[in-house]
Amino acid sequence: MSPTPVLLDADPGIDDALAIAYLVAEHHTGLIDLTGLVCTAGNVGLDDTVRNALAWLDLAGAHPLPVAAGSAGPIEVPHVVTPETHGPRGAGYADLPTTTRSTDPRDGARLWVDAARAHPGELVAIVTGPTSTLARALELEPALPGLVRRLVVMGGSFLGHPGNTTPVSEWNVDVDPEAADRVCLAWEASRAADPSIPPVLWCGLNLTERAVWTPGRSERLLAASDAPITRHLTDALRFYFEFHQSMGDGYLAQVHDPFVAWLALRPDSVVSSPANLRIECSGGHTRGMAVADVRGHRGRVDNASVAVDVEVPGGVDAILDQVSAAIASLSPRA
Ligand code: RIB
Ligand code: CA
Repeated sequence: MSPTPVLLDADPGIDDALAIAYLVAEHHTGLIDLTGLVCTAGNVGLDDTVRNALAWLDLAGAHPLPVAAGSAGPIEVPHVVTPETHGPRGAGYADLPTTTRSTDPRDGARLWVDAARAHPGELVAIVTGPTSTLARALELEPALPGLVRRLVVMGGSFLGHPGNTTPVSEWNVDVDPEAADRVCLAWEASRAADPSIPPVLWCGLNLTERAVWTPGRSERLLAASDAPITRHLTDALRFYFEFHQSMGDGYLAQVHDPFVAWLALRPDSVVSSPANLRIECSGGHTRGMAVADVRGHRGRVDNASVAVDVEVPGGVDAILDQVSAAIASLSPRA
């Protein structure tokens, strides 16, 4: 099997950093070809997401790959960051090294389009931040839904599961609801014209909040590897533990992004429901809500597969075991 081409669009971010490390490890195994990394303003501002992405790639010993700066904020509203969640610069307590790696001259939206066109029908695209850059890529290339093999988004909250940003909204979608709704409309229109185009796999908090990283898991990771990447990741995670504790979740970390990255490479492991998904953009109390029509009330084309569970021996913890083992296999950049 030739490696599956993968593009990651992220807002590093602490759990994004775990996703980056995990995908670099899977690149090294030959499972995937990590073809590019797009940075989008989300957890922190764009400059910090780019700085963090470059540093995490260096620490992971990543191959040369294009890293492009995408949207500096939402497509219509001002950007809101969350320093209390990921730290003032998005890396928690990790004191990231400076990097020799440089960014690609292309804008993130252009990198999206170039990556999709370079691998027509083969690219697995993963979004673990706001969809602001993807929305602009869809303006550049409206045929993007038909060019990617599948799009997997960490976003939304489904089945009545509460939001983590408002009572009904999840952070990635809440930052830029207009962008997320444009993604929904683009896939709806493309699937209406060509039903062979796969729906977007949306992985929301109803499932991703089950991906719990504990201090014990950090200790086991450090015991397995004292490489700089593991030391910096566990430093970053300590901040995330304190944030979750402050929210009453306990001294732990919900690591949404590496969990979704693993699922994106193994979609057969996901139990999902077809739906027509739209994002509420104007509701006074419901802005940012992911409204999945699973019963066909709207009479619109299904544009989404909403993840509701995983079918993996050992469940979510077994997936995190694999993510952790992959990260432990990384070595410092030569
Ligand atoms: O709501 C969780 C998501 O928002 C994760 O991707 C986290 O990194 C933040 O971006
Ligand atoms: Ca993220």
